[in-house]
Amino acid sequence: MTSSRIVYLNGDFVPFAEAKVPVMDRGYLFADGIYEVSAVLGGRLVDNAAHLARLDRSLGEIGIANPHDAAGWERLQMELVRRNDLVEGLVYMQVTRGVAERDFAFPPAGTAPGVVMFTQAKTVAANPLAEKGARIITVEDLRWKRRDIKSVALLAQVLAKQQAVEAGVSEAWMVEDGAVTEGSSSTAFIITREGTVVTRPLSTALLPGITRASVLRLAAEADLRIEERLIPVEMAYEAAEAFYTSASSFVMPVIQIDGRPIGDGQPGRHTRRLRELYLDLARAG
Ligand code: PDD
Repeated sequence: MTSSRIVYLNGDFVPFAEAKVPVMDRGYLFADGIYEVSAVLGGRLVDNAAHLARLDRSLGEIGIANPHDAAGWERLQMELVRRNDLVEGLVYMQVTRGVAERDFAFPPAGTAPGVVMFTQAKTVAANPLAEKGARIITVEDLRWKRRDIKSVALLAQVLAKQQAVEAGVSEAWMVEDGAVTEGSSSTAFIITREGTVVTRPLSTALLPGITRASVLRLAAEADLRIEERLIPVEMAYEAAEAFYTSASSFVMPVIQIDGRPIGDGQPGRHTRRLRELYLDLARAG
């Protein structure tokens, strides 16, 4: 958090310390809002059109008018990247239902949405964890029934990630009815001993990961077999390889789940290949 950090707040680029949000913002009171996160690599946005399309869909699902079209968002993102000299990291975008006297139903028509954007510098490509591989735990999925919406209501994910931190590992995979839904902030994948890439099919039970979609495309182009099906926890334990994907981790090898080594306890061969293929795609912009 440098003193020169600039954030975007409701139409203005302002110094971080001056960016204040009213107490009655519905994002603050009700978690009544949507967010998106795009990666930046080499100063360029990664998979951004798909992130902006998901932002538009999430806003539509909860009845908030999208304040910008895709071109408008991208102009703001790139201006923020420029003002913060961001080469590698993340751009965070959030739209809430705006500021109004506290009342559960929607505020009066014409209430302006609250828009906040900021950048975070982060090593996404040369991340040492990707070399070592991540250890993870499984936790119960405590969330609501519309996880396809990228809502800012993230308490269950906060609690899941904190459990991971307390267990000394990097991520928690959430489990419902015995099967993995997704990571606390990532999509879960395994690769079977037969070399099939497996991930959960899209539904309201999980977020449609943008990195997920790109990795499935890359896996198909690399002639890997793909199966979209539920992953019981025992199937994950028995996998030859495992990994998770997100804008903030790209493709992250998993080497241990609940203390059990996956495969030979090293990042898997197909997983490393998929990470390289995704990095190539990301670098190409
Ligand atoms: N999280 N599932 C959940 C619950 C997530 O929060 C995320 C991303 C993903 C991966 O989606 P994508 O590939 O589109 O980033 C899956 C972001 C990075 C976050 O909350 O910071």
